This record gives sequence, structure tokens and C-alpha cells, in this order.
Amino acid sequence: MARDGLFASRTLQWTAPGAEWAVLAEAPHACPRTDVVAATDPAMLAAGEALFNSPALLGGQAAKAELSCAACHRTGRGNPHFLMPQLSGAPGTADVTNSFFSPARANAHFDPVPIPDLAMPGKVSRAPGDPALPRFVRTLVVEEFSGAEPSSAMLDALSAYVRSIGPCPAGAAAGEPRRLADQLRLIELAIAGAAAAEADPLLRRQSIAAARHQLGLIDERYARPGLSGLRRQLLAASLDLARLEDGADALRKWHARFAAGLAPRLERRERLSLYDSAVLRRALAAPAKAPD
Ligand code: HEC
Repeated sequence: MARDGLFASRTLQWTAPGAEWAVLAEAPHACPRTDVVAATDPAMLAAGEALFNSPALLGGQAAKAELSCAACHRTGRGNPHFLMPQLSGAPGTADVTNSFFSPARANAHFDPVPIPDLAMPGKVSRAPGDPALPRFVRTLVVEEFSGAEPSSAMLDALSAYVRSIGPCPAGAAAGEPRRLADQLRLIELAIAGAAAAEADPLLRRQSIAAARHQLGLIDERYARPGLSGLRRQLLAASLDLARLEDGADALRKWHARFAAGLAPRLERRERLSLYDSAVLRRALAAPAKAPD
């Protein structure tokens, strides 16, 4: 729900009332398993994390609501604030066998369960090379979320990322502030994944869509007075990306241009954007007082 047009964050569509600040200001720490990271092809891991954060992977209602895997599994963990009426019981739960997302797997019962932290051992084996995980992820994408059939490289990439999600040491801070740098990093990962995907046009296309989604998330945070010039440049960069010709070179050149030009311009204005905690607090305070 766009709150009075003040901050039309899509994230608020699946966030429990009262938890807006928790979800928009902070994100859980990533504590990747260093042994898994060291043993995994970096481009595959990059693509996997980018896809995990991209709604273009899912179809139907999930894509319309701009849900990605990361909407429920924030930084690969759970999301105690996730709430979508068609899907959740209490906040933090979801029924991923609900007809809302896919008629294919609709079961008769509404049985929301807590969204698991993927760093914890679960029902699905994370052992390297075990096909159970890519098979499970395929079922999620195609049957639960009506996504298009993913390529095996996409499933391997997503599985590699899921395997890399590690538990944080006890006593570590629960979260860290969300910054422009989070989006810039995911754009870099998506482009690295796309550039390495020459043999797999689907993975390339999905990685580009993942990068464009991150540009859109930046745009959302720059919806403030005085920043419309930057938003126009974001849109232009996104359209350029969509029109790129095949080949890793074009992608790398796009990213070099972005990293040397628009990214530092965005950084210089970050404190005026909704990434800044004071700006965000003011934007959320005003509509929170209005009756829902
Ligand atoms: C609408 C919220 C939601 C979305 C979106 C979502 N998940 Fe989940 N996920 C859940 C819930 C709830 C469970 C627990 C299901 C159960 O236990 O039956 C789960 C379970 C899992 C598990 C199994 C954990 C175990 O027990 O071993 C994996 C792996 C996983 N999700 C990965 C993903 C990936 C990859 C995506 C994106 C393609 C994704 N999830 C999207 C809510 C979600």
C-alpha cells in the first residue's frame, strides 16, 4: 500500500502494520559460509544471490506483488514481519501451497507456517551436489509461484546461494542499516552473473531483470523533492540495460559507465533520499498518523 503517496514502497504490501521501520531501515546481517563461498564459482554465486532478490523469477500474483525469494527470506533468513492477507496467518508465516500464487499446488487447507531461516538445517538437504535442493527450488518457482521454467544453470545458481547462507555468530547485531550500497552491490552481482551466462540466454535475461529491479528499488528511495533528475537518469540506465546487445562486453561496459557516473552521483545525494534514517523516519511518521 502506498501510504498517502509519501513513500510508495512495494515492500509495504507485504509488511505487517507497525513494522515499516523495521523492514525499511534495517536488514538482517549476511553471514555467508566461507567454506561454501571458497568452493563455489563466484559468477554462479553472484547470479544466485541476484536471482534470489528478483521478482522476475516468480510469476503470477507473486510477480505482480513484486515478491522475490528475499521478500520472505530476508538476507536468506526469515521475515517476522511478513504479512499478506491471502497468505499469512500471524506475521512471519506464509502458506506456500496457497492457490493465490498457483492453482497447480493449491491444497484444500490454509496452513501458513513460519518462514524458515535458510541458514538453519531444514527438510531439504543442502549437501553440495545433492539434487534435492535444485529440485525443491524448481518446485517453488514453477508450482508454488507460477514462474516460467527456470534453466538448470538458474537452479544451480539459486541452490549455490542458498547453500552459502550461514548462521551469524551468537551476539552479532541482529541487523544493519539498509543503504544505497546494498542495491549497488546487487546490481554488480547481477551484471557479473549475466556477463558469465553467455551459454544460457535465460540466465542472462533473468540476471538483467534482477539488475533492473535493483535500479527500481533505488528509484523508490529517491522519490524526494530535488532528486527527479537522478530518477530520470536511473530510468535511462535501466532502459539502456534492457536494450543491450548480447555479449559480456556490452554488459561490462554498461556497468563501468554506471559505476563511474550515476552511482557516485547517487551516493552524493544519498542523505537526501529515503535511505537516510532521518528522512525515512519523517516520511513514515506522517502517514502513520492517518487512519488506515
Ligand atoms: C511467500 C513467502 C515465501 C517466498 C516468496 C519464498 N519462500 Fe521459501 N519458504 C517459505 C516458507 C513458509 C517455507 C516453509 C515451508 C514448509 O516448511 O512447508 C519455505 C521453505 C523454503 C526452503 C526449505 C527450507 C528447509 O526446510 O530445508 C527453501 C530452501 C526455500 N524456502 C527457498 C526459497 C527460494 C529459493 C525462494 C524463491 C524462489 C523462496 N524460498 C521463496 C516462504 C517463502
